[in-house]
Amino acid sequence: GRRLWRCAVKCRKCGGTAVLNMRQHKLALCGAHYLEWLPEQVERFIEKYRMFTRQEKVLVAVSGGKDSLGLWDILHGLGYRTEGLYIGLGIAQDYSDESRRLSEQFAAERGLTLHVVDIAQRFGATIPELAVISNRGHGKPCSVCGLNKRYIMNRAALEGGFDALATGHNLDDEVAVLMQNTFNWAGGYLARQAPVLAASSGLTRKVKPLCRIYEREMTAYCLVRGIAYIYEECPHAEGSTTIYYKEILNKMEEDRPGAKLQFYLSFLQAKEQGLFAGVEHQADLHPCQRCGQPTSAPGECSFCRLWDKVQLVKRTVAAQAEAAP
Ligand code: AMP
Ligand code: FES
Ligand code: ZN
Ligand code: ZN
Repeated sequence: GRRLWRCAVKCRKCGGTAVLNMRQHKLALCGAHYLEWLPEQVERFIEKYRMFTRQEKVLVAVSGGKDSLGLWDILHGLGYRTEGLYIGLGIAQDYSDESRRLSEQFAAERGLTLHVVDIAQRFGATIPELAVISNRGHGKPCSVCGLNKRYIMNRAALEGGFDALATGHNLDDEVAVLMQNTFNWAGGYLARQAPVLAASSGLTRKVKPLCRIYEREMTAYCLVRGIAYIYEECPHAEGSTTIYYKEILNKMEEDRPGAKLQFYLSFLQAKEQGLFAGVEHQADLHPCQRCGQPTSAPGECSFCRLWDKVQLVKRTVAAQAEAAP
């Protein structure tokens, strides 16, 4: 009755029933107007931060989740030249297999090219196996996973001749990382956290076109647009500091709509005004002796060293098995 009537929010553009009320923008929109509005916003940010042009080739890293598939859909719809990259991590069957299936289905429905790199198939171990063998982070896979993803994304973008590599990091992701880096006063990380990282010797330009889009806005976009995506997060993300910060930030946002966006934008502004000038320092990069990818480590890059170790462990295990009676 009465309460329902008071809660019904109307689209600012046409007066129809709104599907999303964005208190942070003081804006409510119906489905049709929302599907127009969000891509316009993304295009504005792509241009504002000079991410890429319509002539350039963009590789979109897709995980099968709402952010990256939503991003690919928006970029394709805006007429950018895109191809996708899916990295098979071998995490849990219902997680990795399903996210690959959804990414492939998305590309096939639109006639888009999706490159797939399956880590176990290409290099010989899944991420969880790798985490145990390497014992980095005492068997927790997130750090080896990040290392592998960064390496494979950059190499695929370079070898495919792409001008930019786009990821689906949204505002909630960026602000959680920002808060964590601020608590640690991690100057180097703060200096490098940006919507665009310019290309440098052997490193592709990296862009985050959704850096000012709320996670909630991406969920709404995929639902209204009918994009099938994987709801589950990586099972290993549970209990991570990022999730902890996201929860705190959600509370702040509830009391003060727009708090996240304001924190992020003030940060970018402070940086522009030189707050982190002097902190910024580009590590000396040189090609890895083995694979040629840029690295700051002397000799081989951390990716090659990690996989060398895996080969060594495998050979040792095999030799022991052979020696056993
Ligand atoms: P995450 O690190 O899971 O928060 O993901 C951040 C972004 O990295 C996503 O929005 C994707 O663009 C990209 N990404 C994550 N996982 C994969 C994957 N398995 N394959 C390709 N890209 C990925
Ligand atoms: Fe890599 Fe979770 S450990 S996505
Ligand atoms: Zn409307
Ligand atoms: Zn290497």
